[in-house]
Amino acid sequence: MNTTSGRKKITVVGAGNVGASTAQLIAKEGLADVVLYDIAEGIPQGKALDIAEACPLWGSAVSVKGTNSYSDTKDSDIVVITAGFPRKPDMSRDDLLHANAGVVKAASGAAATASPNAVIIVVTNPMDAMAQLAWKTTGFSCRRVMGMGGILDAARFRAFLSWELNVSPEDIEAMLLGGHGDQMVPLPRFTTVKGIPITELLKKARIDALVQRTRSGGAEIVGLLKSGSAYYAPAAATCQMVKSILLDEKRLLPCAAYLNGEYGAKGLYVGVPVILGKEGVEKVVELKLTKEEKAMFKESCTAVKRLVRKLDI
Ligand code: APR
Repeated sequence: MNTTSGRKKITVVGAGNVGASTAQLIAKEGLADVVLYDIAEGIPQGKALDIAEACPLWGSAVSVKGTNSYSDTKDSDIVVITAGFPRKPDMSRDDLLHANAGVVKAASGAAATASPNAVIIVVTNPMDAMAQLAWKTTGFSCRRVMGMGGILDAARFRAFLSWELNVSPEDIEAMLLGGHGDQMVPLPRFTTVKGIPITELLKKARIDALVQRTRSGGAEIVGLLKSGSAYYAPAAATCQMVKSILLDEKRLLPCAAYLNGEYGAKGLYVGVPVILGKEGVEKVVELKLTKEEKAMFKESCTAVKRLVRKLDI
């Protein structure tokens, strides 16, 4: 709780494209006071001031502050970590491992010291491995450390399906499993239009094509932007997680969570459906998978494990 205002307090670490967009959405929705932290001097202060000056237009009364000091992030309820490098064309998220590990280690350690009771959401890529690193670094309960990836991938799948079926994306629910990487596992059986599985609405070849576009959805944007990666949808996905935790909505969302035997995986952060509430990851929801889905999930876990092994944790 932010003692000065009585409102909840959210720190966003990294005032780049994803961080600033996330701060903007939180402020626009009036969810909490926002502190935007970055190592670059002036950037978080300038962007925070700009967002704060938009608040009167949005009818939002929250405060937005930019800083280069973790002391300003003290006692945050939620810390979102977006600090680090985005990928360039021809790079996979995994190629960012070593560059971003140092950043996430420093950021999660300092943020956790300032806010020992916070819930931490990791966005920096390669996200599953970075969530595992943040969990190890902070020593927090695994319920309070998680990663954002599945909601974004599901949103991309929903967008593509809505264009294909000419139906509102709001009426499409999509489910995915696995790491937020090239081996993610979209689940057409659990993807529906108001409850109707898409397997009843589209031919397999079309579904396969949309699944493939979803898998390479991030790369498609990187290829167009040339420098930098996606940020509007990643910020919207992060804001949805923030809202579910802050308002204790208990939404069922695909997020990177620590598995301790669920889905046959142990000691690993990877994307699964979870219930998100005020305690953080309140439950990992286990779906009954087919043999083929299980095999794809296992392959995705192996890819994440390979990255985690390269980290000195
Ligand atoms: N502490 C805090 N901020 C840092 C640190 C650090 N140690 N190191 C770098 N930063 C900041 C940079 O100064 C920059 O402002 O992180 C910010 C990153 O912003 P962008 O380069 O715009 O990257 P962005 O598009 O926001 O992506 C950030 O999120 O989605 C992932 O793959 C993406 O890993 C990338 C991350």
